[in-house]
Amino acid sequence: MSESMWGGRFAKSTDEMINDFQASIDFDKRMYREDIAGSLAHAAMLQKCGIISANDGEKITAGLKDILRQIEAGDFSFTVSLEDIHMNIEKRLTEAIGEAGGRLHTARSRNDQVALDTHLFLRRETTNVLALIIAMQQALIDAAAKHKEVIMPGYTHLQRAQPILYSHWLMAYFNMLSRDFSRFTGVYERADLMPLGAGALAGTTFAIDRENVQRALNFAGIYTNSLDAVSDRDYILEFLAASSILMVHLSRLSEEIILWCSREFSFIELDDAHCTGSSMMPQKKNPDVSELVRGKTGRVTGYLTAMLMTVKGLPLAYNKDLQEDKEGLFDALDTVKFSLAVYERIIRGMKPRTDNMRRAVAEDFSNATDLADWLVKHGLPFREAHAVSGKAVAKCIAEGKYLADLTVDELKELSPLFDETVFAAITPEACVENRNSLGGTSPQELRRQMALADDVLANEKAVQAKLAANAELPL
Ligand code: ARG
Repeated sequence: MSESMWGGRFAKSTDEMINDFQASIDFDKRMYREDIAGSLAHAAMLQKCGIISANDGEKITAGLKDILRQIEAGDFSFTVSLEDIHMNIEKRLTEAIGEAGGRLHTARSRNDQVALDTHLFLRRETTNVLALIIAMQQALIDAAAKHKEVIMPGYTHLQRAQPILYSHWLMAYFNMLSRDFSRFTGVYERADLMPLGAGALAGTTFAIDRENVQRALNFAGIYTNSLDAVSDRDYILEFLAASSILMVHLSRLSEEIILWCSREFSFIELDDAHCTGSSMMPQKKNPDVSELVRGKTGRVTGYLTAMLMTVKGLPLAYNKDLQEDKEGLFDALDTVKFSLAVYERIIRGMKPRTDNMRRAVAEDFSNATDLADWLVKHGLPFREAHAVSGKAVAKCIAEGKYLADLTVDELKELSPLFDETVFAAITPEACVENRNSLGGTSPQELRRQMALADDVLANEKAVQAKLAANAELPL
């Protein structure tokens, strides 16, 4: 009859189409290392607790290690009729070592097994995401350090607002990524909980030692409640939520880069090696990477929604619906990792077109706040100063000039407080220089922000190294 592992109760083997529909091996084979590490820890614990014999324990251990070698050598054929990675490995083990293989699943269910594998997988991969965040942040810091004093227009409502430093803009993304880093460490912390020993849902009749498995797999804690342990997918939801927010950050960056590469802005130039051309229009140089990252943000946020809907209304404990957790997780993970990695390169290859930026800030009214601020510093209430500056802008627009083109006498007509010194306060350099408040855009303040960023990065590197070492599988 069928190869299935529950043959006892059934008079027929599984319909082939039904089996294809319900099998997960095509994607969950990706967790073979986690599955084997989990089984090794489980078998060692069973042996230590006297639930299986030392002889069986040793056979299981050697057999699992052999399977690991086979899979890594590409000598293992995965069978769809064996449904998933757990049963593929267990079946092969039993073929290889006989009866002892049939004892591995004592005091365990695939429900706690799959939860264990996914925790191990997510924990380890989260540390890879952390490393890629750090690499992109380093690229941002390096770019900011290289172009420290370049001035560009800052926008609100996509209308010229106030001049800022290019490095200030880059460091905004650095800080966004620091929050992403922190969110992913939170994902790690919540995934760092050991579900094995929950059994199918209610625990087990065997005198197992969950702490033993916890120590072997280096988990910070153990699920307190077996029903919760097999039902919980919060750690996946959190991963998808953190991934969605990260992708939204990259998508905003993408949108800005796409705009600023356009002829209309011409503020940055991407490396030729990072762009593509058109098969028809010879002049084109397209920012495909940014467009793709912006586009891929949709699928990652989609997986978050999909998983939320999968668990919404799902009764405890395991339901097959939960098998839907993996494809979204894997694809979101790959998308996030790839996006971060390409963006590190994009940032390193991106150059500001300093002249265009400088021209842009000289030919606009983004110094109008500074004109008002000057009046305030000479005694006028801000609300009145705002009105005076607004009138100056209106006059310039009517006469086709900029604030710096007005004469002192013209300004005095608007407010008697004006004198010659106002002009030095409204150059783009002064606008930037004078915004020396904490977090502001002045070069001095940027030096402080960048020194701070170095500390942040050093701390993140230490955290990442520690978590990556913790998450290493004992294989
Ligand atoms: N392939 C399943 C999953 O990914 C493993 C758990 C199956 N458990 C069960 N009782 N059918 O969720």
